[in-house]
Amino acid sequence: MENNLNEQVLDKITKVCTCKAIPRSKIKDAIKAGAHTVEQVSKATGACTGGCRGYRCTPTIQNLIDKHLENN
Ligand code: FES
Repeated sequence: MENNLNEQVLDKITKVCTCKAIPRSKIKDAIKAGAHTVEQVSKATGACTGGCRGYRCTPTIQNLIDKHLENN
């Protein structure tokens, strides 16, 4: 329970896409809602559309998708 809470708090404050300030919670929500490719997550959240054009955030987003698909 406490671990879950910590993770939820960390998800809210950790920015996956730093260019667009998009938190991990928003990326995870998009993945849970059915976005299972980086392109779909980008469309749903605006990630990968900042100055680096996804250079920094794409690997993290792909990892989150992979983890989600492994566990579901
Ligand atoms: S970190 Fe996501 S577009 Fe740059």
